[in-house]
Amino acid sequence: MCGIVTAISTADIVPVLLEGLRKLEYRGYDSAGLAIVSNGRLARLRAAGRVAELAALAEREHASARIGIAHTRWATHGVPSERNAHPHISGGLAVVHNGIIENFEAIKSALQARGYVFESDTDTEAIAHLIHSKLAAGADLFEAVRLATNELHGAYAIAVLAEAEPERAVVARSGAPLLLGVGEHGMYAASDTAALLQVTRQVIYLEDGDVAELRLASHRIVRPDGSSVEREIHLSSLSADAVELGQFRHYMQKEIFEQPQALAQTLEIITGGGSVAPQLFGARALEVLGGVQRVLVLACGTSYHAGLVARYWLESVAKVPCSVEIASEYRYRDSVPDPDTLVVVISQSGETADTLAALKHAIAQGMQRTLAICNVPESAIVREASLRFITRAGPEIGVASTKAFTTQLAALALLTLTLAKLAGRLPEEQEARHLQNLRHLPVAVQKVLELEPEIERWAQRFAAKQHALFLGRGRHWPIAMEGALKLKEISYIHAEAYAAGELKHGPLALVDRDMPVIAVAPADELLEKLKSNLQEVRARGGELYVFADAGSEIPESEGVHILHMPEHYGMLSPVLHVVPLQLLSYHAALVKGTDVDKPRNLAKSVTVE
Ligand code: F6R
Repeated sequence: MCGIVTAISTADIVPVLLEGLRKLEYRGYDSAGLAIVSNGRLARLRAAGRVAELAALAEREHASARIGIAHTRWATHGVPSERNAHPHISGGLAVVHNGIIENFEAIKSALQARGYVFESDTDTEAIAHLIHSKLAAGADLFEAVRLATNELHGAYAIAVLAEAEPERAVVARSGAPLLLGVGEHGMYAASDTAALLQVTRQVIYLEDGDVAELRLASHRIVRPDGSSVEREIHLSSLSADAVELGQFRHYMQKEIFEQPQALAQTLEIITGGGSVAPQLFGARALEVLGGVQRVLVLACGTSYHAGLVARYWLESVAKVPCSVEIASEYRYRDSVPDPDTLVVVISQSGETADTLAALKHAIAQGMQRTLAICNVPESAIVREASLRFITRAGPEIGVASTKAFTTQLAALALLTLTLAKLAGRLPEEQEARHLQNLRHLPVAVQKVLELEPEIERWAQRFAAKQHALFLGRGRHWPIAMEGALKLKEISYIHAEAYAAGELKHGPLALVDRDMPVIAVAPADELLEKLKSNLQEVRARGGELYVFADAGSEIPESEGVHILHMPEHYGMLSPVLHVVPLQLLSYHAALVKGTDVDKPRNLAKSVTVE
């Protein structure tokens, strides 16, 4: 969480910093700030709230400079306020930071003992004073940052600016993303490429432990021991359109509607191919996947739900036992490691601290067969795993994950087929049928998107509700969970999901005419069981909203509203059924007038525990 931008240029960098922050706002949006050196003086501007507040302040103050650092915050230490907003200052030095410094209390006490006075509640201020103490001891800025970062424990990406050295900025990273941008008119750094597309496509991915100096026409990178290192310049293929809203009102809406394209891109690797191959998962796939006896999926939030769907697929198609765990639980649990288990981590961002830590924990326990399913190729999680599958959903900006989820499911379907094939459990004609369904998936999802007007009407009724219950069975139970998560996340309506068979074991007590019950009703082998569960709801006066496949024969009646989905889509049906639930929460949030793309208290990349 938190976004960082740094710029040094021949032209005014304030508009570059602000535009960069706007692109990074998805990472955190409770306060923003910048520091510049202008006419030899360090100036700092900070505002509680969105980047727009900071931009207005910068305009009022006529801020302009050739060098600066900027930050958009998601609060960890200290409430969201101007006082806690970055940059933090020590003498003539300013620091912005993304991450968490675990030993900041110890650093703070030591610095306080030396007379440093802290003005904020943040861990970042400790970094500022620590670097200042190194400068005071005679180090230059580059060296001071390197020495200071050697004392930090935890995750950080930082950018530092000093009044006394206005010809350079220094940045460093460990465990939080940061890349350099090599521009025609200057050097830049940011938390992601999207923030820099306005000035350059040439990017350098910094490695953990790198400390880099940015000058107008050059850069230098050193390792923690001070030795110099060269890093390759990459030409980013990210298109500016991919991060623009275009005709849509919100990124979430855009991303829901991009799903056919995102799926087509993710599944491009099987276009035309008559069979699945382990190599889809990387060069070492045969060695890593061969002999796998079990699968353990580790993930958080929506990505965890993708794992839960995959459990049904892996066990029913590949006959491989699978367990799925919330990463934040697994990392601290005494579990029984098994070297023949494939550890699959799923993450849109590839930065989620708990998922990364869970992966490292599994590896440390001797589980070397690891696969990352991720949407960000250069992310920490991808680098850590031995195999990778990069979903090609394109940048997901809306905080609520949508197209990342469906492309994760596509990747997990390919994994299921691959493991089934390696185990000799996928007859050729079944493989051909599955592949055909996968290739057709973008078209099938497109059809579901056409239901939007009807869902919009339903959403009107939902928006007035305080609570909602989601029901599903089998591989659609995780889809009910995902529907509930989406609804609470962006509309703030309290929602819970249950396996429909569990209803009578407790939650049925909640059902009355004020509790809308949303049912995911595919025409699969559990349909009749689900119908009985829906009767139980109706008998208690509960109002049902049913997403029913063609042929499911659930009649519309008083208190039973049916939305007619296309024909049942077999194993891949969860991919189709999640789409109307995404649309339902989107439209309910619109009616309620919440901030759809930036729901309160949340951020896109959860890089802290
Ligand atoms: C919900 C949502 C979150 C993320 C979770 C994991 O819409 O987006 O629940 O799924 O924070 O994030 P990643 O997938 O980046 O690891």
